[in-house]
Amino acid sequence: MSAAAQVEAAPEGEVRVSGLAKRFTGRDGTETLALSGIDFTIPPGQFVSILGPSGCGKSTLLRVVAGLTPASTGGAWIDARRVAGPDPMVGIAFQRPVLLPWMTVRQNIALPAELEGRWSAAEIAARVDALLAMIRLPEAGGRMPNELSGGMQQRVAIARALLKDPGVLLMDEPFGALDALTREHLNDELLAIWERNRPTVLFVTHDIAEAVYLSDRVLVMGVKPGRIIADIAIPLARPRSEATRGEPAFARIGAELRAMIPH
Ligand SMILES: Nc1ncnc2c1ncn2[C@@H]1O[C@H](COP(=O)(O)OP(=O)(O)OP(=O)(O)O)[C@@H](O)[C@H]1O
Ligand SMILES: [Mg+2]
Repeated sequence: MSAAAQVEAAPEGEVRVSGLAKRFTGRDGTETLALSGIDFTIPPGQFVSILGPSGCGKSTLLRVVAGLTPASTGGAWIDARRVAGPDPMVGIAFQRPVLLPWMTVRQNIALPAELEGRWSAAEIAARVDALLAMIRLPEAGGRMPNELSGGMQQRVAIARALLKDPGVLLMDEPFGALDALTREHLNDELLAIWERNRPTVLFVTHDIAEAVYLSDRVLVMGVKPGRIIADIAIPLARPRSEATRGEPAFARIGAELRAMIPH
């Protein structure tokens, strides 16, 4: 096989975390070991959730994979590239929306794609319209972020993360601020996008049912230090739907996970 063919055959969107530890030093000099001994590999296209109690290091782990926080030891790799900063193939939705207050909703969603220069203005506009419909805010493109509720702002931030069809999608409790019905709607929209484009997804949530519904696999984290205490496959059939929630395995896996999570 030629070198070019080998490059083409390489998996795209593999996320690997190896030997990762993260220490924070507080202002008073006290050290927090936020993450310790984190090792996992996510094959391209897998949907993985991270479940764990508050403070176990979920956001820190995602920020290291996103290249926003340096590792203390070990690190993260995307397709064998060591993560050293934000990567254009990675889309991120944070725990809080982080929209630019002086830009309209439409401008906020379009900004990362415009900065990258891969699409024409017309293509970006069409994609923004489709995403505004998906997040059920079709009329909101011209509004300013401060004119929207917190949940609406969060939906705008999710649209922004999805606009570029990222090969790797990192989501930190993206639906935590939403009401239950909007959350279920966006769970299904996210799965539809995932089925279509097959990004590798690393999805942080506190919600056990959400993790089971969405994922191929759930990593359970424990606290002090933040570490992975279980790696559970979710063998439920896809595509998932309302019927999935009624399957006996859905409740059984949820109960197993609940028993594992420290509280
Ligand atoms: N910038 C920082 N400086 C110092 N300590 C930090 C910093 N960021 C996080 N920590 C500490 O690291 C630990 C993990 O925090 P992290 O935000 O990753 O938890 P989490 O699992 O995302 O929690 P939650 O579910 O509440 O969002 C906590 O003890 C936190 O206080
Ligand atoms: Mg967090």
